[in-house]
Amino acid sequence: MQFDDQLIKRLREAQHVVFFSGAGASAESGVPTFRDSHNSFWVDFDAGTFATASGYYANPDRVWQWYAEQRLKLRALTPNPAHRVIAAWQNKASNVTVITQNIDGFHQRAGNHKVIELHGNIGTYKCFDHGHPAEHDANISDEKPPHCQQCGGLLRPDVVWFSEELPAEAFTQAKHSSANCDVFVSIGCSLEVYPASTLPINAAHGGAYLVQVNPHATLLDEIADCNLRGKAGEIMPLLWQAVWREQLP
Ligand code: APR
Repeated sequence: MQFDDQLIKRLREAQHVVFFSGAGASAESGVPTFRDSHNSFWVDFDAGTFATASGYYANPDRVWQWYAEQRLKLRALTPNPAHRVIAAWQNKASNVTVITQNIDGFHQRAGNHKVIELHGNIGTYKCFDHGHPAEHDANISDEKPPHCQQCGGLLRPDVVWFSEELPAEAFTQAKHSSANCDVFVSIGCSLEVYPASTLPINAAHGGAYLVQVNPHATLLDEIADCNLRGKAGEIMPLLWQAVWREQLP
């Protein structure tokens, strides 16, 4: 794959790079995306039951068990080369921000030491009633949600459900980094979910060189400076070699 000279130059000279990932970044790890026509996560996943507070309130045991099953499935999968490139980039360059919409924790498993998780993480928990973070040993029985040790309420997965606010500090950090970076790389994002979808626009308004990695067109096509049409797991290692002139560590 031949990359545009301007893209290589921008990435080599960047003082601050943001990598912004969506479900497409984990697709080659075997994690279904949400809105692709094939293998869509939503085919056998009732968002109303499993991704809303009302759904959890109505049937906490069933929802808690479902998330336990998803955690087990994710544990059996592994980060792909796209995750490994983003981790290597953060460890090599001076200022790299990783912002993800994904809750799978694959960036951390690939070696990223700081990840802004806009939609939470399936491996973390909080109190359903008061929202304070809570610890839970995922190895104990997951038949029923445990109770919060602070207030006795039920625990829930610390992920953002539909119609819930994004974690304020995470989104503030994400907006700041996006508006102040030199290069913003959107990887595997459909940009159909607000407000995460505003980040690439923020970046463009801030003067960043906007790159998109996606096998399909998105609304970002119109404003991206560079559209890399293809799979993240294939393109990212090639981009690493073109910029750093070395094999991925
Ligand atoms: N490499 C790169 N991109 C890919 C790949 C791949 N191998 N496979 C699919 N894609 C692209 C698809 O073309 C699509 O544009 O990844 C994107 C996935 O889009 P969605 O399934 O909508 O996922 P995402 O953009 O992360 O959704 C945002 O919506 O359902 C909520 O909370 C959920 O975080 C999620 C949010």
